Amino acid sequence: MAVDLLLGLQWGDEGKGKIVDVLTSNYNIIARFQGGPNAGHTLVFNGKKHVLHTIPSGIFHDDATNLVGNGVVIDPVIFKGELDKLEEQNIDYRKSLLISRKAHIILPTHRLLDAASEASKGKAKIGSTLKGIGPTYMDKTGRNGIRIGDLELSDWKERYRNLADKHESMIAYYNVDIEYNLKELEEEFFKAIDVLKSLTFIDSEEYIYQAQKAEKSILAEGAQGSLLDIDFGTYPFVTSSNTTAAGACTGLGVAPNQIGEVFGIFKAYTTRVGSGPFPTELFDEDGKTMGRVGNEFGATTGRPRRCGWLDLVALKYACRVNGVTQLMMMKGDVLSGFKTLKVCTQYKYKGKTISHLPYNIEPENVEPIYTEFSGWNEDLTEMSDASELPKALNEYIDFLEKELEIPITIVSVGPDRKQTIFRQQFV
Ligand code: IMP
Repeated sequence: MAVDLLLGLQWGDEGKGKIVDVLTSNYNIIARFQGGPNAGHTLVFNGKKHVLHTIPSGIFHDDATNLVGNGVVIDPVIFKGELDKLEEQNIDYRKSLLISRKAHIILPTHRLLDAASEASKGKAKIGSTLKGIGPTYMDKTGRNGIRIGDLELSDWKERYRNLADKHESMIAYYNVDIEYNLKELEEEFFKAIDVLKSLTFIDSEEYIYQAQKAEKSILAEGAQGSLLDIDFGTYPFVTSSNTTAAGACTGLGVAPNQIGEVFGIFKAYTTRVGSGPFPTELFDEDGKTMGRVGNEFGATTGRPRRCGWLDLVALKYACRVNGVTQLMMMKGDVLSGFKTLKVCTQYKYKGKTISHLPYNIEPENVEPIYTEFSGWNEDLTEMSDASELPKALNEYIDFLEKELEIPITIVSVGPDRKQTIFRQQFV
């Protein structure tokens, strides 16, 4: 059976966690394929908010198996924190949570290196979540990393020491003011490793192959967004993994011809957290309203998110790079009350009008060209059927579908599981 993918089409925070949670009842296995605790997937149900960082968003469903794939990087301390929260809610994760032996481990010194690297960059800093993501993927591609499977080897602590010592000399090389007590950090780290070792480690590509053969349905869950992809995002202001569809193949061991539906999640407007270009960013009251009504604060870092109009040039690019087959529009409710809405359909780029995402989208090169729409005043948050959606919103949606040439099958009108409108049968 083909593996379906679910991924973000903007700069992250599109609402992937909510949709995975909504769709989980259709799947046997939910598999995270990249990223790590830089992600913050928020789920709301029964009046309660839950934030997951590394654990797949299917964990709250009794029947789903949740796999942390080989493309993910795991911080044992944060992972343990997530497990503790699940335990508080009597979620029995022991049977339903599996970890790939090939997933890499974030060491305490990876986090310190992240901080040292950012501090050394000054104004040019990436705006990293400082969770050690970049340094861990650097060690992975540099062939120095420590993997989950290594925890089963007798000499893994020796390997740990060698790598941590090397990191300490690298931190000193940065020559920036970073205070830390590695002994304390290590104490917490090794305790968390012991908890991790009590979970089930698997050869995940074999597991997925056998699951597919047994006709199990699998949903691959992405983290961050396509414009943060290490290859296709706004480099260098990106994360360090492939957040696009190809990342699911390498992050789980699924062959390209085994991919089924590709669900692309986008917000009805755009947000970005951290540094980097953002052509449709708003610095006026409209942007502030989006931030306030949309509660646009990072789920991992609490930082306020930058807000702006929907950018169709960037969205089309993301749809093509991912091969999106169905779209899901999030936070439509946040746009209620705007008199006029704008959608960027082209860029003025170095004096010319262009419709594709160019190499450089820094403000000095790119000026967005907008199409305007009438807004709507209706509160969408209590609506449950597509027939209730206001006319102006339907016009907005129709325009996007026509431009993107992909159906919008779900419109989300609030954070709760229940606030989800299905416009068409989606799988
Ligand atoms: P890093 O992946 O923590 O190194 O962060 C690199 C860039 O990606 C920064 O601009 C972060 O704000 C951004 N980023 C990383 N993870 C997420 C996420 O889950 N949502 C939104 N932005 C993210």
